[in-house]
Amino acid sequence: MQEYTQKVTLEHLRIVLWTVLGSSVLVSLLTSVAMMNTTLKKIEVYNHRTELAHQHELEYQRKILLGNNGKPSPMAAKVSGLTPSELRKAESAAKTPSKPPNSKSEPESSVPPKSPTGFGSSTPSEKKGASSSFSSSGSSPSSPPTSPWSSTIHSSPPSSASSSSTATDLSPYKPPPGETKEHRFPKVIIVGVSKCGTRALLDYLALHPNVIAANKEINFFTNVSMYNKGPEVYKNSMPLSYSDQLTVEKSPDYFECEMCPERIIAIDRTIKLLLILCNPVDRLVSQYMQLKEKNDQSGTHMAGFEEWSVDPMTNTVRKNVASIRTGMYDQYMTNWFRFFHQDKVHVIDGATFIKDPVGEMRKVETFLEIKHYLTSEDIYYNATKGFHCMYSRIAKKSHCLGPTKGRPHIKVLPGVYQTLQTYYNPHNARLKSYFNYQMSWV
Ligand SMILES: *[C@@H]1O[C@H](CO)[C@@H](O)[C@H](O)[C@H]1NC(C)=O
Ligand SMILES: *[C@@H]1O[C@H](CO)[C@@H](O)[C@H](O)[C@H]1NC(C)=O
Repeated sequence: MQEYTQKVTLEHLRIVLWTVLGSSVLVSLLTSVAMMNTTLKKIEVYNHRTELAHQHELEYQRKILLGNNGKPSPMAAKVSGLTPSELRKAESAAKTPSKPPNSKSEPESSVPPKSPTGFGSSTPSEKKGASSSFSSSGSSPSSPPTSPWSSTIHSSPPSSASSSSTATDLSPYKPPPGETKEHRFPKVIIVGVSKCGTRALLDYLALHPNVIAANKEINFFTNVSMYNKGPEVYKNSMPLSYSDQLTVEKSPDYFECEMCPERIIAIDRTIKLLLILCNPVDRLVSQYMQLKEKNDQSGTHMAGFEEWSVDPMTNTVRKNVASIRTGMYDQYMTNWFRFFHQDKVHVIDGATFIKDPVGEMRKVETFLEIKHYLTSEDIYYNATKGFHCMYSRIAKKSHCLGPTKGRPHIKVLPGVYQTLQTYYNPHNARLKSYFNYQMSWV
């Protein structure tokens, strides 16, 4: 009897065990199926969204190519920094030189409306020539895109660049034994903002032994003909490097380019971004000076800064001037953060960067996970130049930035400066409220 009970109990136990085991196997099977479904759904949604974005871009490209009722294309406006009306006037003035220039603003209707993200059909990215890499057949949802991109490449995991420590490591650089230099995809991209010190940032970074910088602005993601050739062209336009060196490129045009964030992560999901932000009014002054210099060289008249940026009749900011839109940082950053996690993006305060470049570069080294190397020996203030110069311990040479960098700004009428500042204030405030960046110039 006792034996029987024991047997029954054992039998029970076995049944219970098998049931538990069986159901757990079943549950995990069901879970995997469910997870697979979710993943498939996610991929589907992602593909659909990407497709939509490409269609949107193709349409815009067509608009640029076909023109807008013979009106100057927004691309031309971006290149010259003039509003479409100013451009039109400049064009008609060239044809009929007797006609005096007219400062009246153009009708709003000729400018396409802006979308909430700041990337309406007038997105500056596309004005700069950014456009889809996909052939028109690729824009139909049923057919997969046939482009050099169809085989998605994901470059190797981050190289084992010397890990960061708190101490400054001054030891000379030795390449990994037995290695030869190669072209490599960038691991770091300086995406903007132009006239905020991106050149200085790139040149300072280039002093670091674990960094190799592309000297030219590559503009791969905004250059249609280059982008259509595929990623190998991008890689081969990078300087040669060893595996323990980070390749960095700087193309400030990427900042306003709507398609760029997505195109960059398609190259490598681990790419880190550097973004330097300065007071948008000061940035505008700097940009104006650059444009004026160019126009002076080509003998083109350009209005004074005040009239160029603010309509004197109404005292309103000429918000159709492409260079003025650039300063609305929050709108463009919204797009970047749709694709990049904030810990992959390091934002530098442009004003602090000028005052304390070594301190800011230390933060950059930490962000890039490279050793602390740069000191005030490498980046030093030159009183004659009125700006920082560099000494390369690798090349044993010093050099200063070009004559246009760090040049003193023109005096701007206080009223106009204030009007512009007020215009940018809500955008500046969003840097803190949306993204939690406290800039010293806000
Ligand atoms: C695009 O890149 C090609 C090749 O580097 C260059 O020749 C061309 O000028 C670039 N186009 C633009 C619009 O920058
Ligand atoms: C300082 O700047 C002046 C003017 O640009 C330049 O001639 C000189 O070589 C610089 N000196 C150093 C040590 O960088």
